[in-house]
Amino acid sequence: MRRQRWFMDRNLALDFVRATEAAALSSALWMGKGNEKSADHAAVEAMRKAFSVIDMQGTIVIGEGERDEAPMLYIGEKVGSGKGLKLDIAVDPLEGTTITARGDPNAMSVFAAAPEGCLLNAPDTYMDKIAVGPKCVGAIGLDSSVEENLHAVAKKLDKPIDEVTVIILDRDRHKETIEKVRKCGCRIRLIRDGDIAGALAPAIEESGVDILMGTGGAPEGVIAAVALKCLGGEIQGRLKLRNDEEKQRARKMGIRDLSKKFTMEELVKGNEAMFAATGVTDGTILKGVQFLSHGAKTHSIVMRAKTKTIRFIEAIHHFEHFPEY
Ligand code: FBP
Repeated sequence: MRRQRWFMDRNLALDFVRATEAAALSSALWMGKGNEKSADHAAVEAMRKAFSVIDMQGTIVIGEGERDEAPMLYIGEKVGSGKGLKLDIAVDPLEGTTITARGDPNAMSVFAAAPEGCLLNAPDTYMDKIAVGPKCVGAIGLDSSVEENLHAVAKKLDKPIDEVTVIILDRDRHKETIEKVRKCGCRIRLIRDGDIAGALAPAIEESGVDILMGTGGAPEGVIAAVALKCLGGEIQGRLKLRNDEEKQRARKMGIRDLSKKFTMEELVKGNEAMFAATGVTDGTILKGVQFLSHGAKTHSIVMRAKTKTIRFIEAIHHFEHFPEY
């Protein structure tokens, strides 16, 4: 039985990568064309199509929005062939729509899955986040001050505070945090968009990033939690609800304590989760789609929380077989 399950997971992993590849290939055609909507739509459509042939009983728990606002990959939508494992599915077919439209770095197509009931059903609101790599697990906290967290990271990484690098979304709402980080003497990498890649960066040594701080999308927080479980890092999150309508939306998703700090285990339960991503534009972890004379090359990552196996997959796709990739 264990063996059977293992084989199923291995097969599914490749199927999931096919879905992120399809979304990345379709949206990459829109890179730099200034059209966010078309880039996003292309990714969503391609990913949705790829799901239809995967043997799973998937339910979208993090997707393109609620049923009445998203025609495809909406929250609650059933995806897959209807055979196989019952899974919670979290997707961001194009993480970084603005990035793609501008041709900036770090756009990816992202997918996460876990057994039914294991992923937090997060509303499409903001979330305060803090994320670190494996060496700093247990040393940071959303309730600690910026200064405390940065000194804890420096200590765990055994480096002077002025060598600690913090990744933060470049937003006005982060002005105070940025000032505090600078006052501590730390280095900052401000990113225009894409805080899933930002949350993963501290868990990837070559990224040169030690900690993510700040507020981004709550759905992105759950997806990043799956990836960090696979990479052995840590993320904590707390919903940042700006008005009654957002509070209502959170309650509708089953969240009772609106000011709760979600630990990694509460964002994604257990150890059976999987994460897959394909680069759309060049980024810290993955290269973007490269168009060749006869097709295109994609770069993907697929990881399992249980085994912590990290696979990088480079694939060449031939135009004559599109869209069968
Ligand atoms: P999209 O892919 O939906 O454009 O999201 C990009 C992103 O930068 C996320 O990575 C991040 O969590 C969120 O937007 C931040 O939201 P905002 O742009 O409103 O600050």
